[in-house]
Amino acid sequence: MIDGKKTLFSGMQATGNLTIGNYLGALKNWITLDEEYQCFYSVVDLHSITVRQDPAELRKRARALLTLYIAAGLDPAKNCIYYQSHVSAHAELSWILNCFTYMGELNRMTQFKDKSAKHADNINAGLFTYPVLMAADILLFQADVVPVGIDQKQHLEITRDIAERFNNIYGDVFTIPEPYIGKVGAKIMSLQEPDKKMSKSDENLNASIYLMDDPDSIIRKFKRAVTDSDNQIIYSEDKPGIRNLIDIYSSVMNLTTDEVVKEFDQRQIIY
Ligand code: AQP
Repeated sequence: MIDGKKTLFSGMQATGNLTIGNYLGALKNWITLDEEYQCFYSVVDLHSITVRQDPAELRKRARALLTLYIAAGLDPAKNCIYYQSHVSAHAELSWILNCFTYMGELNRMTQFKDKSAKHADNINAGLFTYPVLMAADILLFQADVVPVGIDQKQHLEITRDIAERFNNIYGDVFTIPEPYIGKVGAKIMSLQEPDKKMSKSDENLNASIYLMDDPDSIIRKFKRAVTDSDNQIIYSEDKPGIRNLIDIYSSVMNLTTDEVVKEFDQRQIIY
């Protein structure tokens, strides 16, 4: 608790240009939270070096990410916005927490499996212990809540497990954080492979809509989005491409998915 407010922590990696997945799943939710919470938002640049980076390029992208936080509506007078690498306590606590984390737990992390498949030539220990650094980020501030997309839920669960394990041995040292996941936009999928999440580091540039894309590219990418061969607009597990487009539209327009389906049903009748 700071000034009677609960504490909130979140961050993003400077691994590429932000996508609408990052925006709708995380950033959009952040900007309304400073009334209720004392907020800490980090550009988590230490996390970015689990894959090879050009230092000058990483610094440039980290700065661009910080400016995007502000451009999206985070008020620096009301939110603490900073670079993770400038606060050495993140790395220090990470080492301590490493000693309270089991290999078996880290082995179960789906992001490790996905990223090591993607970077088979560089499966480093940092990629494996990434969730421990994320636990340190959160526990360092005694964060009560952590707004993340659903893809990060597993990392939040391991953070809670590590904190509980530590507290069971040493008393109430860490606050046990809760995830804060927005109702819509929690998981935006790739426009080209709708069973895979949209990612800023996807090599297929048509798979993601980037926040800095120009309007023509955005329209072109949506028109080329992979859907299916029938022409029905139904929100269903069997239609991941259409479902994803409905999710994006509902999130951007602040509509429910039912309202979106109804809107497009009526448009089909008119045409
Ligand atoms: N597709 C997504 N839908 C909803 N939320 C998403 N997030 C990421 N992708 C989606 C949320 O964005 C925040 C920032 O995440 P990050 O930068 O720490 O790393 P990430 O989750 O690994 O994001 P990317 O875009 O997939 O980056 P790369 O390509 O570098 O791995 C998190 O809150 C995340 O939930």
